[in-house]
Amino acid sequence: MMDTEKNPAKQNRDKAVEPLVIRNVGVIGAGQMGSGIAQISGQGGFQVTLVDISDDILKRSINAIEKRLNRLIEKKQCTVEKMEKTIKNITPTTDYNNIGECDLVIEAATEEEEIKKTIFRNLIPYLNTETFLATNTSSISITRLAASTDRPEKFMGLHFMNPVPVMKLVELIRGIATSSETYTQIGIFATALGKSTVNSEDFPAFIVNRILLPMINEAVYTLHEGVGSVVDLDTAMKLGANHPMGPLELADFIGLDTCYSIMQVLYDGLGDSKYRPCPLLAKYVEAGWLGRKTGRGFYDYSGEEPVPTR
Ligand code: CAA
Repeated sequence: MMDTEKNPAKQNRDKAVEPLVIRNVGVIGAGQMGSGIAQISGQGGFQVTLVDISDDILKRSINAIEKRLNRLIEKKQCTVEKMEKTIKNITPTTDYNNIGECDLVIEAATEEEEIKKTIFRNLIPYLNTETFLATNTSSISITRLAASTDRPEKFMGLHFMNPVPVMKLVELIRGIATSSETYTQIGIFATALGKSTVNSEDFPAFIVNRILLPMINEAVYTLHEGVGSVVDLDTAMKLGANHPMGPLELADFIGLDTCYSIMQVLYDGLGDSKYRPCPLLAKYVEAGWLGRKTGRGFYDYSGEEPVPTR
């Protein structure tokens, strides 16, 4: 554990009324969300096992964490010693061999139900019977995912926002079978990471994405209908509604495949045509133009500055 008095995660943990039994955390998936969750858990003094399918992805993830911590050092918000401790707290691995030591495992893989269910199927034989299991899904039914595991009462949604180290919120979502012990422990864990929590019922896309994604989808329709250009739309929402990022810039940041999947979950789950994913969004996904992560979306990221593509 980090022993510095200035560690906000430790202070939050100490403030919690219930004792936190979670010490070792597994994170499945080392993409942008998994890396962020591993980083803040490592910074909070938790021992983290970070699992992904390839050494390359893991190497990229650890490099990204080091880069972000170095930026904090430059800004005097972190010391070299703290950075070294954080990195030491994170063990990257391509197998589940040590995952049984984890008190909590957080799945942060691609937003596709079948991928998540396959991960749970492969992971469960390695877990201790007491291990809590959480999913960082941004839209999929927690009850349905829980039912695909051997421990629905120890399973719940723990939804972080992107970028994880910066955004203050975590959504807590109980499935129909989630026990109050699971809900309490995972809630305390989120608070120990320095996050504020809101409770959401288990409805498609929960709270943030139920509201945010239809706005992004509407922005894509607005672009599709030629109401304004990429820059006009983003400038309008930044300067006219005080959003930190325009909706198209934000869509590229989240990933257009993720945006599309969330709209599809809303459309299928709520059965209302107002959630129909914009055909232009579908086209970008089909083209493999997924936003920042592939270097092209509503902006082209190959140069120094992002260049609008429409
Ligand atoms: N990872 C970690 N830290 C990052 C980061 C990243 N990818 N990008 C920026 N930061 C940090 C910077 O280090 C900086 O930290 P300090 O304040 O300590 O200096 C801080 O964020 C601000 O960064 P910048 O000054 O470079 O840039 P900015 O002022 O434009 O802020 C931003 C960047 C915080 C991302 C801001 O643009 C923002 O809030 N955008 C909206 C993000 C948002 O809406 N996220 C939710 C998406 S929805 C979601 O996540 C749910 C889902 O399931 C899809």
